[in-house]
Amino acid sequence: MIYIKRKEHFCAAHKLWNDKWDAATNKRIFGKCSNENYHGHNFELEVTVCGEIDPDTGFVMNLFDLKQIIRTHIIDVVDHKNLNLDIDFMEGKQPTAENIACEFWKILAPKVADYGALMHKIQLAETNNNIIEYFGE
Ligand code: NI
Repeated sequence: MIYIKRKEHFCAAHKLWNDKWDAATNKRIFGKCSNENYHGHNFELEVTVCGEIDPDTGFVMNLFDLKQIIRTHIIDVVDHKNLNLDIDFMEGKQPTAENIACEFWKILAPKVADYGALMHKIQLAETNNNIIEYFGE
């Protein structure tokens, strides 16, 4: 088994807020991310897939294909969007990096499987210092 990784980035807005709580509690729990009128992040996404090396190509899967899958199904969908309001697959979900990473996995896993690869990890950095890693359920 060998692992290959593609890096991409996107910019998106969100607001973390739980209607069950009052404003003070939301502010305490979510900090700056609870700002009423949203705010943006420069998200850094890393998608790692694994598989065996194809003897004909020498690839696990062609990184060009992995790039195209991520661009088409993730980046083009979320870049410069509001994660609370614009994104169908985030509807009803708190747009934390954790939840975003889980949704990205669901979208990407069947796509990379078409190329004979398996999802290994999604890493999503909301800032340089706040990074989520997801390895599937
Ligand atoms: Ni935020």
